[in-house]
Amino acid sequence: MSTKTVTKIYLFLVFLHLLTVQLRSCNIFEGSWIFDESYPIYDSLRCPFIDQGLNCIKNGRKDNFYLKYRWQPTDCDLPRFNGEDFLKNFKGKNFMFVGDSLSNNQWQSLACMLHAAVPNSNYTFDRTRNRSVLSFPEFEFTITFLKDGFLVDLVIEEAGRVLKLDSLSRTEQWKGVDVLIFNSYHWWIHTGRLQTWDYFQVGDKLYKEMDHMEAYKIALTTWANWVDSNIDPVVTKVFFQGISAVHYYGKDWDEPMVKDCSGQTKPIEGSTYPGERYAGEAVVKSVLSNMTMPVNLLDITLLTQLRIDGHPSRIVNGTSMDCSHWCVAGVPDAWNELLYTILLQK
Ligand SMILES: *[C@@H]1O[C@H](CO)[C@@H](O)[C@H](O)[C@H]1NC(C)=O
Ligand SMILES: *[C@@H]1O[C@H](CO)[C@@H](O)[C@H](O)[C@H]1NC(C)=O
Ligand SMILES: *[C@@H]1O[C@H](CO)[C@@H](O)[C@H](O)[C@H]1NC(C)=O
Ligand SMILES: *[C@@H]1O[C@H](CO)[C@@H](O)[C@H](O)[C@H]1NC(C)=O
Repeated sequence: MSTKTVTKIYLFLVFLHLLTVQLRSCNIFEGSWIFDESYPIYDSLRCPFIDQGLNCIKNGRKDNFYLKYRWQPTDCDLPRFNGEDFLKNFKGKNFMFVGDSLSNNQWQSLACMLHAAVPNSNYTFDRTRNRSVLSFPEFEFTITFLKDGFLVDLVIEEAGRVLKLDSLSRTEQWKGVDVLIFNSYHWWIHTGRLQTWDYFQVGDKLYKEMDHMEAYKIALTTWANWVDSNIDPVVTKVFFQGISAVHYYGKDWDEPMVKDCSGQTKPIEGSTYPGERYAGEAVVKSVLSNMTMPVNLLDITLLTQLRIDGHPSRIVNGTSMDCSHWCVAGVPDAWNELLYTILLQK
């Protein structure tokens, strides 16, 4: 070989190396929101799967800047979402979101993103109180949402409502799924009137009170042990949707005079949020890092913290102020773009 050829091969290898290092070292959850005229990905008025409370345009939201932001990681670019490629890539697969209403929020967003890509597809849609199933028979593809806010069991007994931190009994439905996206957090921080249990239970012992984050840790560990012993990583990819931000107090984003998220029309610029971290973030990271099964954390906390403008707030008079869920279309579309990115990397 001539010196020239050797040099060329060498430079090519250096280039490949730099490329893989760049992709591997890019944290796709660090970044900022960029205005992009080509967004949103779909017209929410044409999506038949959106819950009333999240259907912001239909409910009369007038500003539309909040629809035109794209998540831009600091060190790399995300592939543009293509719903038809998604369905072709995952032909024959089933996806399942298990968790509270924020899982439902992400499910609705993905349902709209896919439906918009194949508007003439003869989908089937079946919804019951705690389960939504959307199928595209053409692609033998299904996405399911299962409402299960604690993951562990909440049962009514003589003593009252008992949250059994070491007990899981609805796991049958989680088996044999190709992509599982779990989430649980918001129900754990409820107190007073919103609290939906009277006792915690571990083993045979009932506890009237326990630090909620301690309880959350025990419950997530129960879930993690189940995943470790029942899921085959070759068959199933497992994700955990990280903690989604709420915006009820302007002081969290250095606007002490602002009461809540109403009237917000733009995201916070840049890549930092002044408010505190959520106590649950460390719990989630610690539990996931101790698992033998590789679970992907969809670490949406920072990117949702920056979106003070993305909530339904109170568009319809007489409803309660909602600064914890997200308008669809809107912020959860980015969660699905990130999910898509991670799945493409595998
Ligand atoms: C949907 O069903 C209609 C009526 O059966 C049929 O004409 C059409 O080709 C189907 N569309 C697809 C994409 O399969
Ligand atoms: C969902 O509803 C069904 C029937 O109403 C019930 O049997 C099941 O336990 C519920 N699942 C959860 C997670 O609450
Ligand atoms: C994870 O493992 C470390 C080291 O064994 C331990 O200190 C930590 O408490 C564990 N985390 C959880 C959530 O159990
Ligand atoms: C909602 O209430 C506000 C304040 O009372 C009022 O100005 C507004 O017109 C109401 N909007 C609708 C759609 O009723």
